[in-house]
Amino acid sequence: MEVLLLNGSPHVHGCTARALEEMKKEFAENGVEVTELRVGNSPVRGCIACHSCAKSPEHHCVFSDDVTDQVIDAAIRADGIVVGSPVYYAGPNGALTAVLDRTFYAAGRQLAFKPAASICSARRAGTTATLEAINKYFLMSNMFVVGSSYWAMVHGNTAEEVEQDKEGLQTMRNLARNMTWAMDCFSAGEGVGFDKPFVERSAQTNFIR
Ligand SMILES: Cc1cc2nc3c(=O)[nH]c(=O)nc-3n(C[C@H](O)[C@H](O)[C@H](O)COP(=O)(O)O)c2cc1C
Repeated sequence: MEVLLLNGSPHVHGCTARALEEMKKEFAENGVEVTELRVGNSPVRGCIACHSCAKSPEHHCVFSDDVTDQVIDAAIRADGIVVGSPVYYAGPNGALTAVLDRTFYAAGRQLAFKPAASICSARRAGTTATLEAINKYFLMSNMFVVGSSYWAMVHGNTAEEVEQDKEGLQTMRNLARNMTWAMDCFSAGEGVGFDKPFVERSAQTNFIR
């Protein structure tokens, strides 16, 4: 099994990284291979709705100078996806949002039926709104959102502060185990004839009146 961990924070050793680290340890114990990508702190373009991605055989974005195409490739390859973000004004980091817009517009259909989870880190508030914003990418892409023993969040301004959030880290470990179980079950199901369901797409009605 392979899981993609996408860190939406600009901080290499920040709070989101600490939370994902806790999941990584659990994945390693369960024999799950981890691909880690970071949005980082380089400029990231927003989606310009050019629809070039629809013509790309690799489902790549027209902009190839940031992490988005790497995210697309890794997400298509992975059996499951975890997206983490720091909370910025009660929502995900803007650069991460731009990467997710472009990833799902370009390759959302390729990610269908994969288990996915969102996590976040915050000093204080805006956490469930952030998780909800990330989960929306999964929920309209035929993906399955995996939960944990509490909202998948850690609290702190630094990784050292997150270290003190014992319940937050416990929630990360439980989430990694749940993700592993979901990926194993989906794979086993396909192995015994539970093929992925057919997705109807013929109707697309815009709200024009
Ligand atoms: C632009 C900006 C906006 C922020 N907004 C919030 C917020 O709405 N609520 C909150 O609790 N923390 C907020 N924070 C604090 C971060 O969410 C918090 O420090 C987080 O744990 C940092 O994670 P990181 O180290 O992985 O980047 C904000 C930080 C920045 C830079």
